[in-house]
Amino acid sequence: MYLSLSYTTLFVCFYCAEVVYSQDASRTILNASRTGLPSSDVVGSITIPTTLTSVSNIETSSIFSLTSSASSIIITAAPTSTASSNPSIAPFPPVGSIPRDYTPAGLSRLWDLIGPVEIPPITTTVIPQTPIALPSPPPALYPPFFAVTPKDILPDLKFPKGFLFGVASAAYQVEGAVKDEGKGPSVWDCFLRALDKLLTRYFLTILPADVVDLHYYLYKEDVARIAALGINSHSFSISWARIFPFGAADSPVNQEGIDHYADVIATHLKSNVTPVVTLFHWDPPLALSAYYGGFASPNIVDDFIHYAKTVFTAYNGSVHTWYTFNEPQVFCSELGSFPFNLTLPNGVNSSNAQFQCSYYLLKAHAGAVKAFREMHITGEIAFKSADYVGMPWRTNNTEDVDAVERHAAFGIGIFADPVYTTGDWPQILKDTLPPDYLPRFTEEESKEILGESDFFAIDAYRTYWNTAPPEGIGACVKNLSDPLWPSCNLEVMVDLNGWASGPASDPLTPWLQATPQFLRTSFKEYHRRWPAPKIYFSEFGFTQPFEGLRTPAELSQITEDPERTNYYMTYLGELLLSIHEDGIPVEGAFAWAIMDNAEWNSGLSARFGIQYVNYSSPNLERSYKRSAFALCKFMAFSETLQALKNSSRLFQQHLQN
Ligand code: NOJ
Repeated sequence: MYLSLSYTTLFVCFYCAEVVYSQDASRTILNASRTGLPSSDVVGSITIPTTLTSVSNIETSSIFSLTSSASSIIITAAPTSTASSNPSIAPFPPVGSIPRDYTPAGLSRLWDLIGPVEIPPITTTVIPQTPIALPSPPPALYPPFFAVTPKDILPDLKFPKGFLFGVASAAYQVEGAVKDEGKGPSVWDCFLRALDKLLTRYFLTILPADVVDLHYYLYKEDVARIAALGINSHSFSISWARIFPFGAADSPVNQEGIDHYADVIATHLKSNVTPVVTLFHWDPPLALSAYYGGFASPNIVDDFIHYAKTVFTAYNGSVHTWYTFNEPQVFCSELGSFPFNLTLPNGVNSSNAQFQCSYYLLKAHAGAVKAFREMHITGEIAFKSADYVGMPWRTNNTEDVDAVERHAAFGIGIFADPVYTTGDWPQILKDTLPPDYLPRFTEEESKEILGESDFFAIDAYRTYWNTAPPEGIGACVKNLSDPLWPSCNLEVMVDLNGWASGPASDPLTPWLQATPQFLRTSFKEYHRRWPAPKIYFSEFGFTQPFEGLRTPAELSQITEDPERTNYYMTYLGELLLSIHEDGIPVEGAFAWAIMDNAEWNSGLSARFGIQYVNYSSPNLERSYKRSAFALCKFMAFSETLQALKNSSRLFQQHLQN
């Protein structure tokens, strides 16, 4: 059954727009954007030309509702909600009012802010039966005259020796067991519930990831399943609130958390799956938001560095590749929006929160990397960027050329320029944002930040065009109440003739179209603008349209995911060309995601997995989709022979078929 709201209203935010879309018998599923909310409190609107009918991804932290009509698109801006404007929806105690009580009673008090959580069906680590039996591979997707099979794509090109061919995940999105083994609450455990309370007004519900894939207890099976396919790496994150339930540097370490990840890492190593570890994938301990406002406060810097040092000490020698932060620009852009803005400290508001966060986060990154070096941790470290540089929508149009520069500066550049090229914010940001929005670096801070990375990592899901706002860039930059301020550019997903940039993904991820044809250009731009000796393609992936609407009884249709398969095959083919013909030093590629998982505000409805998870089965059964087989077959034939020999016997048999 579809809701009447379906497909007419998009809730647009920085990075993504999403649609309210489905309801089944037992629950209504909300798929608002990561920060987007139904904007019943609309305050104004702008009209932009019909040619922009595929505009999405309006870069601002405000919340928008976007509707299309025959002649125009109306973008309607709503103010970001604040704690005080929604007191009944999500009461959260004022920042600083919760005492730093690091006892079990203090932890209970933090969990009381959240209320009851769902108890997982499994409560101990499961030892799987190995080796994992692979099902028979799917038949060819298309006749050979129409499309080659994975093993015949660019057969003369190989990935470089040691290439990390991986899958990716993140703690909050897959672990579940949300309150087990001493974990403290993270902001997501709390804020999704706040969102849910608000949404009940609209007869909608959003489920928090209390159980989700239960990777916390099923990791041994999950590692065995990817090893069986010949995948040689897994990029995952550690939950800060499992290591420090109270987050703070002066609070106790949770030994169970340390031991858990030690075993997770050892399990990977035993299976020849290289662990790649992210310290922070958007899930700060809630305690830090309650004590001082989390990443909107300078206090976060030392607490993060202390957490990083603890993790480095615990796993030094077992992990080679580290990321400090996942997609910081996306994380910080959320801070000014409900419900994240419930915990902003004094002096920070919905408008400047994103940039205060950017400043402290960069200092935290630099401090953690400095510690990494001083502690002589073996390996390499950087942060993961997101987004793309952009291309002028109207070629040779100077305003659109400027729009691309603005897009690049506010997207990747805000974090990458200081670290990779200048030690300072992009000039465009400094020209647009006053210092009370964007704190300026001192000379010493600049020195500390510049160069603090060993490689460049990019979650490069797609590439689009950019254009100037209808009122012009200059007018937008001067007008702080322009809904496009401060980035003052629009992303366009259709060419000048009205053709889409690529096939659409699921309507729940309207920010995502498959754009392999631009991959090489994009990688050239990343490398030109933010040079580094090595690049990781740290995430890429696709939602098969409407997959989330299918029931477990339709397993054979769920595992048949041609659009996702085509996405991966075309992206990896272009990546091979990028390495061999353009000389781009890409040394790893990570498919998002290892399995279906909680896509933030979209919950379980937007499916990115190369494995299906049956959330109705008692053991949360996983099934490989076609894309998993295609990926691995492609990879195996594009790897060095040595890598092929290392893959499992079963997978080698599978390759013969
Ligand atoms: C990138 C983020 O790191 C990840 O958490 C998210 O699920 C994927 N993009 C898909 O939106």
